Amino acid sequence: MRMKQVSLALVLLGATGLAGLAPSGSARAQGDVIAQRQAGLKRMSGNLETIKKTLEAKGELSIVAERSQDMVAFFQGFPALFPPGSDKGDTHARPEVWSNRAGFEAAATRMVAAATKLNQVATAGDAGATATAFREAGGTCGACHREFRAR
Ligand code: HEC
Repeated sequence: MRMKQVSLALVLLGATGLAGLAPSGSARAQGDVIAQRQAGLKRMSGNLETIKKTLEAKGELSIVAERSQDMVAFFQGFPALFPPGSDKGDTHARPEVWSNRAGFEAAATRMVAAATKLNQVATAGDAGATATAFREAGGTCGACHREFRAR
């Protein structure tokens, strides 16, 4: 899974690099990557919503395990969805995503850790620990948004 994410990131970087040779193509490529990350983030919102409903209904923790695994994979490749130049266009990303790259990558790494934790306790079938890890994961989304997402 990890290797797949890394190679996907490289493909994305390569694609935007090539498009950079032609200005109009570059603008389109940046628009694509912005739309792609926003669609992924909407999917992450959907995952959280499904997990919340599952926990409230005392449903199958395997659903939580599945959704949190998708979160782990997505956030491992997250910084690559913010290549240089994709600060321009229909985006709510703050300039700090690029000017404080280390901070942004650290926030993404914390998200991967929180989603991994959620996946582990859900896989283990521990409902109490899953509820706690779910709240922490939600807080981790919010922490990055406060610093790196414009309103
Ligand atoms: C490492 C930082 C970071 C983390 C972690 C993060 N986000 Fe975001 N999020 C952003 C940024 C930056 C944007 C703005 C993206 C853009 O408009 O280009 C954003 C935008 C969004 C959007 C709006 C997408 C749209 O359609 O415009 C949603 C929904 C969202 N995030 C949900 C989540 C959820 C749910 C989580 C946690 C599971 C999460 N985010 C974790 C940085 C983060």
